[in-house]
Amino acid sequence: MRHAATAAPPLYTARPMFKSISIAKGSNATPVIAVLAGAGPKGASKTRSRGAVSDLVERARATPGFKADVGETLAVDTAGVVLGLGKGDCIDNAAVRKAGAKLVRALDRMGLRSVALQLPALPAHDRAGERIDIERLGRAFGEGLALANWRFDQFDGEATRRTPAQGPLALVSDDDDFNAGLKRGLLLGEAANLTRRLGATPPNICHPEWVVATARRLAKENGLSIKVIDFKEAQRLGMGGLVSVGRASASKPAIVILTHAPRRPAPAARGEHLVLVGKTVTYDTGGYSLKVNNGMKGMKYDKMGGMAVLGAMKAIADAKLPVRVSGVLAVAENMVGGDAYRPDDIISMHNGVTVEVTNTDAEGRLVLADAMSYACRKLDPTAIVDVATLTGGVVVALGHFSAGYFCENDRLRGRIEGASQESGEKVWRLPLWTEHRDFMRGAHADLINSNPQRSAHPIQGAAFLSFFVDEKIPWAHLDIAGVDSVERDSDLHVTGPTGWGVRLMADLAEGFTRRAPRGASA
Ligand code: BES
Ligand code: ZN
Ligand code: ZN
Repeated sequence: MRHAATAAPPLYTARPMFKSISIAKGSNATPVIAVLAGAGPKGASKTRSRGAVSDLVERARATPGFKADVGETLAVDTAGVVLGLGKGDCIDNAAVRKAGAKLVRALDRMGLRSVALQLPALPAHDRAGERIDIERLGRAFGEGLALANWRFDQFDGEATRRTPAQGPLALVSDDDDFNAGLKRGLLLGEAANLTRRLGATPPNICHPEWVVATARRLAKENGLSIKVIDFKEAQRLGMGGLVSVGRASASKPAIVILTHAPRRPAPAARGEHLVLVGKTVTYDTGGYSLKVNNGMKGMKYDKMGGMAVLGAMKAIADAKLPVRVSGVLAVAENMVGGDAYRPDDIISMHNGVTVEVTNTDAEGRLVLADAMSYACRKLDPTAIVDVATLTGGVVVALGHFSAGYFCENDRLRGRIEGASQESGEKVWRLPLWTEHRDFMRGAHADLINSNPQRSAHPIQGAAFLSFFVDEKIPWAHLDIAGVDSVERDSDLHVTGPTGWGVRLMADLAEGFTRRAPRGASA
């Protein structure tokens, strides 16, 4: 059976609660007064504006039950809305991101489309003694607004009646630094939303050829250069991993390479080339090591690594970051069929390493391995980061709270942990030692793709991949199988894909434009 030849639809078709969010002051802007908790009625004087505003705040504080918790909102008649930011010494990016998310839902409910945000006087330092940076708070707020203003209604049919999206939301704050951050945060949130929309697209539509067409469109719209290695070329290049995993699908595998090449890189970024590689398995049946007992449901999200790389490339292009970055997608669908690969096959990879397939469900590492060895040889990276929904084991180990990550290079680790702190996308490091690498050696070929002794699965994945990255190139592997999607609504995300990694990778790229890694020490 062949997939219908589908052209990629326009990139923005989801209709969220508000059609768009922009930074502008409307003529009838309703004041939204942000307040800190626990300041007591006198805390009103802590807001910068006086008169009507402090009156509003007084009335909110006098309202039984209003505690100014993070994201708590209260409409005071038609005069305005009071938004809680929680306790002043607890204020951080995460709290402000959550407040933005809750505010956009409240504005939707209240039917307000034009608001002017007034910020309270904030303490200079947070509880950890870190200086509070108003632009970064603005950014987090913008991220929260954009992420919460997303829903996936592209497949609403005749049986669904949803309230149509409201017109654009115009929003502006009384602080220029906050507004600058807000603008960046909205763009980052929207890039993550693009990733979420692509992620939610079902596998009967989103197959490898559709991903290639979508990447071409995205490249064109964002001024990125693109190169596609198609099935034939992959065969010619000896990419046994990609070719074996993807060949039983009617939609053939490919490698997509997008590049953002600024004319003038920042001084710190001169000569740097960050390469982001994403596992893009549009559907993972497991192959002949078939997934059973409903384990297959949800495997449309096995492409989220690649989709996050696409979103990050868009965010990087939007911000015109002065650093060279490439995004590489290893795209395949893992199916069964007469020409599918089997357990026991021995395949030869792009870098000449041979692999005995012990499990066709450990396919992500096979497609990534070829993409990474190609990237090391042809793209001259100074750092390489792969993102992949690689193992169920990482979900068992870390749940949906953080991604598992592997990185043996101090400097890159500092950069990643800094980007993680900034974005709130948490990572937790796991070990990768010689013992783990030896665990992946085979009897009949150089390597096996999965050790039949069922131990340390997330590390096995990383250990396998390590054979395909040039030792001299700093490398990090992010296993996002637990964080790529959520099964129930949370503060920032409705049920479905989260776009995890888009903001972290954009921050990581931004970090390369500065000299010293931020956050965790290098
Ligand atoms: N795509 C899966 C990993 C996965 C599992 C993601 C559950 C999200 C939720 C991957 O290709 C896979 O099947 N991994 C196997 C590896 C094993 C066969 C070595 C796993 O984790 O069970
Ligand atoms: Zn699999
Ligand atoms: Zn998979």
